[in-house]
Order: sequence, then C-alpha cells, then structure tokens
Amino acid sequence: MQRNLFACALAALVLATPARSQQASDATAPEASTTTSTARLVTAKSYMVAAANPIAAATGAEVLKQGGSAIDAAVVVQTMLGLVEPQSSGLGGGAFLVYYDAGRKRLTTLDGRETAPQMATPKLFLDKDGQPLEFMDAVVGGRSVGTPGTVRLLQEAHNRWGRQDWKRLFEPAAALADAGFSVSPRLAALIAEAGDGLKKYEATKNYFFDTSGAPLKTGSLLKNPAYAETLRLIGERGADAFYTGRIAEAIVDTVRMAAGNPGVLVLNDLADYRVRERQPVCITYRALEVCGMGPPSSGAVAVGQTLGMIENFDIKGLGPDNPQSWRIIGDAQRLAFADRSRYLADTDFVPAPIKGLMEKDYLGKRAAQLDGDKALGGDAVQAGEPDWDHALLFGRDRSIELPSTSHFVIVDREGNVVSMTTTIENGFGSRLMTGGFLLNNELTDFSFETHDNGVPIANRVEPGKRPRSSMSPTIVMKDGKPLLAIGSPGGSQIIGYVTQALIAYIDWGKDVSQIVAMPHLLNRFGTFEIEAGTDAEKLADPLKALGYEVKIGDMNSGLQAIEITADGLKGSADPRREGIAIGE
Ligand code: DON
Repeated sequence: MQRNLFACALAALVLATPARSQQASDATAPEASTTTSTARLVTAKSYMVAAANPIAAATGAEVLKQGGSAIDAAVVVQTMLGLVEPQSSGLGGGAFLVYYDAGRKRLTTLDGRETAPQMATPKLFLDKDGQPLEFMDAVVGGRSVGTPGTVRLLQEAHNRWGRQDWKRLFEPAAALADAGFSVSPRLAALIAEAGDGLKKYEATKNYFFDTSGAPLKTGSLLKNPAYAETLRLIGERGADAFYTGRIAEAIVDTVRMAAGNPGVLVLNDLADYRVRERQPVCITYRALEVCGMGPPSSGAVAVGQTLGMIENFDIKGLGPDNPQSWRIIGDAQRLAFADRSRYLADTDFVPAPIKGLMEKDYLGKRAAQLDGDKALGGDAVQAGEPDWDHALLFGRDRSIELPSTSHFVIVDREGNVVSMTTTIENGFGSRLMTGGFLLNNELTDFSFETHDNGVPIANRVEPGKRPRSSMSPTIVMKDGKPLLAIGSPGGSQIIGYVTQALIAYIDWGKDVSQIVAMPHLLNRFGTFEIEAGTDAEKLADPLKALGYEVKIGDMNSGLQAIEITADGLKGSADPRREGIAIGE
C-alpha cells in the first residue's frame, strides 16, 4: 500500500501545484490573494476525497481504493493535514464530524471540540483591571489552549465506523514526517507573513525557520520526527497514548510553562476529555434537509435560520446578480447573527432555545422584516424572541475570531459520508508546539467579557465548557439520502460561505465546482463584505444604494464539496487554497 500511496500523493502534488493560485492567510493579518473564479470539477464512480491539501487528499483516496471506510480515510487525511498543513488543524486542536452511516441510513454528529480546563474561570481573558485582553495577547501562549479533542474524535469515529487496522492508518503520515515533505507555497507564505510572531517559542521557531532564522521557503524539505513518534505512539496504544502518559505530560508542561502567558491546563483535563455524540441540527429548505453541527457550534443554527428566512422569498427568480437577492440574504444573516450573539453557546452549560430558533413560524416572523427593499437599519437588527423551554435571557457578546482551519469531505464505496471541519483556531494556533504538532488557541472563541450591561453572556468561559464555534460541516439530505457534503474554514465568515454555496447549489442550479469558487458576499454585523478582485465587486455600488456600508477585502474560504448523484460523485476544492478533489 505504502508505495502506491506515495506515488499517488506525489503525482497529485505535482499535478496540483502549478495550477493553483497562491493564497495566504489562514492567519492573523490580511494578505494578498489572487482569487480565481474557477475550480476543477472532478467526477468519480465509487469514492472520493476533497481536502485542502493534495497530499492529504491523495493519501485519503488511496485508503478508499484499498477498501478502507470513509472514517479510515478521515484518520489518514487528518494525520496528514497535521503534517503538511500544520497551521490549520491537527492533533492539538478540535473538530466536528457530521457523518452519514450508509448501513444504518442514519445521520449523526461527533463533537470533538476543545474544552476549557477545570481551573479556567470566566475571567480567563480579563486583565487585572477587569478589562478584556488584546486579542493576540490572549492567543499567543498557554492561556488560550483548550483540551484538544481531535484525537479522541478520530478514535471514537474509528471504533464505530473504522474498518482498517487503527495502527496502520497512522503510518502514511508518520512515514512522510520521517522522510520529509516539501513545504507548500501557502505554508511558506504564512510562515513568512507570521514572521517574528512565530518565533516566541523555541520549538515553533526551530521548526518553521532555518538555522539562520529565515522562514522556510516553498519547496524546502521539512522533516518532523517528533510528529512521527507521536503518531506511532497513538497508533500503537490508541487515543489514550495522547490523553495520558508522556504526550499528555508534554502538552501540560508546554502550556503551563509558556513564557509570558502560561495556561492552567492539567493532566486531569486531558484524561477526562470526552467526545459527545449529538443529534444533527436540520432545517427543511425547498424540500431538502440541510443538516449540520449544533451547539457548541452556532453553524447549523445560523445557516439554517438564514435559509429558513430566505425561503419566504423568490431567491431563485431574483438570481445571483440582483442586489435584492443579496439584500434579503445579507439581512437574514444579520438577524441570524443577532440571535447567535445572544443565545448560542455550549448547551451542556447554558440552555438555548434551539428548537424555537429553528421553527418556521418564528423564522417567518423574522423574515417579515425583510419585506422592504432597503437595508435594515441597525436598530431593527436585534435578537428575536423564540419559544423557550426555560426562561433565561443572555447578554449580547462580542467574541472575536480570526482565521485558520480546514474542511474535508469523503465518500466511500458503501456511501458513507464524512463532512468534517477541523481546527487549531488561529493560523498556527497558540504558537506553542510539542510532540511535532501545534497547540490550539480555541479558548479565544469564548467571549472575553463575562457580562453585557450586568446580564451574563452565554458564551463566557466556564470550566469544562466548549467555546462557541462557527464551523458548519454540512450534509444535505434528499429523500432520506445524502446529496451534498460541504463545509469551509473562515471563522464566523464560515456561516456566510456555506450558506451562499447552499443557495447557489439549491436555488441557482450551480454545480459543486461553481459553488466553491463563486465570489463571496456576506453580511454578519451590518457591513456587506464583498470579495476583492472578483465580479462581486460589481454589486458594491448597488448595495451602497440600498443603504449598506460595504467592505471589499480578501475572503479566504476553503470550501470542499462532494455531490452524490445517481450517476456517481462530483467533487471540487476551493481554488483559494491548495486542495483537490480526487476519486475513482
Ligand atoms: O470554531 C470556530 O468557529 C473557529 N475557531 C474557526 C476558525 C476558523 O475557521 C479560521 N478560518 N479560517
């Protein structure tokens, strides 16, 4: 298997490299992007992987070729992404899996989100005067590191739906970590862009810079023996090797001894970490079921609410070039974000009216606000009053998010479907590295402030709680069968990216390659965000005329999608990043 696998990965890399546009950030600062407006449409008969890196996609596809299940492939894709796209996701982070089990004809989700340490308090991100820390001061160091969930998620998923030997699935990434991989253009650009910000901690500096202190360049051979060792330990002893013993000890030491900004993680936080299986959150949209990740993610609720509101309008008839389509979509998103800010957080800790927020009656009333033909005024965009099981009102929060993250989709020969969004939060996470992988800064997805005008904020830090996410891994169902699997990175812009792609697919009849490449427009908080250097800029003046402020900038989605049709599979990877879809 090994030789085939690497031949295939190498071929994919060679094929993919010249064609892709070099996009940067993940990371903390805006960077130049040369957004392409086309993506490759890949077709296959029996199995497919679409992921943000060609080596990861190709090794995943090889597992499927050898008869592995979608979850076997997911283990290989994730361990490979942790090596070749380390800034975005990995063993030190968390993930959400939306999974269709073809045998049982059942859709479910696994929540591998990071948790706040037991010693974290709501004041974790306040300074000694009770003021919120500057975002990057909170991110860099141990304070922001949550108990990682990805390894436990992979193990749980493999226990249920894996077919191949667990240990064997760790070998492709371990072997490549030993042999060394070629630094991709995107990784090189991100290291250069992060610059001195990546040099604070020795292990990270030594990994991403050469001995003269220069950032690694595209094509540099990068070996990661520490990662190979970590992978082999987990391969031999299972996830317990990560959550107890020497890997766990090294994580805790790294977090607690982080110079300048130590964290409070202890060994028990790791030993006690649990993955949660949760019901998918679904909404019916034009006879399809759009299903995704409920709390602690706000993804499926916000995507679902937006679709539930716009279903009251003829978006299909209006079409993608009409500013009125975008007014309706954008203002529906603003209303969904107003609800999100007030109500959504980890429902293991705070009650949230998920059912009420998704009810068609409630969404119909919210949609009535969109009946006019001008932008909603700021005062009109407030959280609504959905039905509650428990009476409780939360304050509005101002949680901040900045980019990294990866999304991959996999369909195997049996028709099992993986839609997984995986992250270490910021580009390069907390900047702390141990065991050959970066540690997340996911705790900065909590609200830094604890109260809003004296009212507690639902997404405040609490021990053991999972920070609210925007990740929106999605599977669209038609007549009880999966039709489309999709998701994206992009912080809270993820919600807009995924919603737009769904509308483009369902209402505007675009294919998967068109929906991942389409220029972005979205609205979270009032300002219309429009993707620079694309045709969407033509809508800037018309949207201004409707009363919006407009911001034109880079919008670094990383949509990966696979459509499952009676004739086979169609897949595509977002041309803004380095990914490919590959299948047979
Ligand atoms: O969970 C979340 O919503 C964020 N931590 C994800 C971060 C992200 O997608 C950054 N994207 N480019």
